[in-house]
Amino acid sequence: MSSTDTLPLIDCHPSTGSFRDDVVAGLSRERKQIPSKYLYDARGSKLFDQITGLEEYYPTRTEASIMHAEIDAIASAVGDDALMVEYGSGSSDKTTILLDRLADDLVGYVPVDISRDHLMEAAAGIDAAYPSLEVRPVCADYTSSFPLPDLVEEAMRTVVYFPGSTIGNFEQDDAVAFLRRMARTAGPGGGLLIGVDLRKDPSILHAAYNDREGVTAEFNLNLLRRMNRELDADFVLDAFRHEAVWQPDAGCIEMHLVSQEPQDVVVGDQTFSFEEGESIHTEYSFKFTPEQFANMAAEAGFRIEDVWTDEQDLFSIQYATVAAW
Ligand code: AVJ
Repeated sequence: MSSTDTLPLIDCHPSTGSFRDDVVAGLSRERKQIPSKYLYDARGSKLFDQITGLEEYYPTRTEASIMHAEIDAIASAVGDDALMVEYGSGSSDKTTILLDRLADDLVGYVPVDISRDHLMEAAAGIDAAYPSLEVRPVCADYTSSFPLPDLVEEAMRTVVYFPGSTIGNFEQDDAVAFLRRMARTAGPGGGLLIGVDLRKDPSILHAAYNDREGVTAEFNLNLLRRMNRELDADFVLDAFRHEAVWQPDAGCIEMHLVSQEPQDVVVGDQTFSFEEGESIHTEYSFKFTPEQFANMAAEAGFRIEDVWTDEQDLFSIQYATVAAW
């Protein structure tokens, strides 16, 4: 059976209202900013899927190719009888590559996602595709703490799977705090299988985040649409422009929505003023050297055991074990 209502769900969906609070707080700051997680409403998620197929956007296909090339080594790092906990709903090609190889060896698979519909759809698909695999979805914001299913008692170890280099969306301190949370979830003897994007020629990065077709621009501008719809805002989309810039000192791509003119924008019952050229910062995408990431992981209580990369060293998949916390 594979219908969604046969899958037991642990539901910790956060209360609504946080989007408005976060937007109002972010637009009230000296340097306007909105957390990047709000880019992913239904349309934003579709646009991101479209980005992953763009010629200029190297991360997704490179990560998948590393998975294919190194799946034997990855499987032996994860080992038998692990409980695999994926942060972000696992319907992607990468999850399929992993489960094609590991489904029979795992005690269970736990996809964790904040979007309940997306999660249940992905979980049902995986449940149908791998009849021998126990699938136990958890609806939660994975940056806060959430319970694991009882199945964890039967596992030899818990392995957190966090692909896509989403770790790059966090600023340094937040990334370390978040890695520490993952170490706590994995527990003593647990592991972390994580995608980590690497430092590279800025021209490659610039192209990846400013694609010719303008899909990334549409993805970024969609945040304004979302605020108009959900928060009663009156952003004029043509009055803002997408911009993604490489910050060499920080080592990150920053995405912005730049106001093209002086303007006032209403969000619910509040008004925010923009000067010409003033921007809303909408995303960080940090790129790491292997040493940098190893240091962050160590600070969070992980020890890096394996690093797999492609031939051009564009991207890495890393396996770490919980050393202490
Ligand atoms: C899904 C967060 C890894 O940072 O590359 C793609 C999101 N933003 N293009 C990334 C994104 C602009 C992506 N992550």
